[in-house]
Amino acid sequence: LGQSPLLKDQVSFPIGASMNPRLLVENEAYLKLASSEFNSVTAENHMKMMLVHPEANRFDFSKGDEIVRFAQGQQKRMHGHTLVWHNQVPKWMQDFTGDEKAWEDMLKNHIQTVVKHYKGQVAGWDVVNESFLDYGSLRPTIWSKNIPDYIAKSFQWANEADPNATLFYNDYGQDGKPKKMQAILDMVRDLQARHIPIHGLGLQMHININAKNEDIQGVIEQSTATGLAIHFSELDVAVNPKNDSTFVYDDAAKSAQSEKLKLVFQAYRAIPKKQQYGITFWNIGDRDSWLRGYFKRPKEYPLLFDDQYNRKAI
Ligand code: G3I
Repeated sequence: LGQSPLLKDQVSFPIGASMNPRLLVENEAYLKLASSEFNSVTAENHMKMMLVHPEANRFDFSKGDEIVRFAQGQQKRMHGHTLVWHNQVPKWMQDFTGDEKAWEDMLKNHIQTVVKHYKGQVAGWDVVNESFLDYGSLRPTIWSKNIPDYIAKSFQWANEADPNATLFYNDYGQDGKPKKMQAILDMVRDLQARHIPIHGLGLQMHININAKNEDIQGVIEQSTATGLAIHFSELDVAVNPKNDSTFVYDDAAKSAQSEKLKLVFQAYRAIPKKQQYGITFWNIGDRDSWLRGYFKRPKEYPLLFDDQYNRKAI
């Protein structure tokens, strides 16, 4: 990645991490790296539906605002994640009943209240997250069931609320899943043909050391060919994907991980400058990774900083 000691000085595009407001307050080493190494910030959880909109008539922006204040205080770009998803949906939305118009009003109100709240403070939004299954069909969710054209409508509503925000469709696992990739490309073509304001594609890049280089390069090329901005939005490289309890993070695993990260950065550099929205890691230290916490894989080391927050050699 070059010789400069700080990550953000080694690359010519924004480099970010998803962050957790509690760690920014409680953990000095975390705060230090968050401040010095990155110039873009994504909230790992605190702008999602369940957290910002816990009850039908109540929004709670307190934690999201904390992260935004941190980013602003340090002139970092803030990326918004995420407006429409099937996960981390509050109970009241899951239980919502009504006709298509009522569902539309509910989702529009959610999207526009959140986007307006952060207008001018958030540069871009993951408007719609993970709408397609691995074999390319539309994921059956409360959104697809109740608002058949919810993807296009969500982009329109977000654009009305903040015409300056860069609006992304974000998804994972495109590499090695050609039907999923094709479904995303078909969706982009359809939205573009209908003049729906989609500006970017988020490739989450939750990959592992066995991911095939040509698959990764292939999906990057296909995504770039849309002409949209490209964000590697949630990068991590798992070294122990099978969660083997006897796994040792040895030199071989470290070097395989380093090679994979290098390939990802190299492929990103090949994207035309005007399409480079940036690369975001999915948190900072290995100990902060969702693979350890949410996925309960204690012997996983997927990030750029180790358990003591030392930078790994890549
Ligand atoms: O903070 C609460 C705690 O108070 C509670 O006691 C505990 C009990 O379950 O839950 C804690 O919240 C958890 C939260 O992470 C914070 O750790 C949630 O249960 C847990 O569901 C949540 O997991 C998040 C996951 O999305 C939810 O699907 C991960 O942190 C987050 O990294 C992950 O991020 C997603 C992206 O948004 C979209 N792409 C995939 C990516 C990885 O799954």
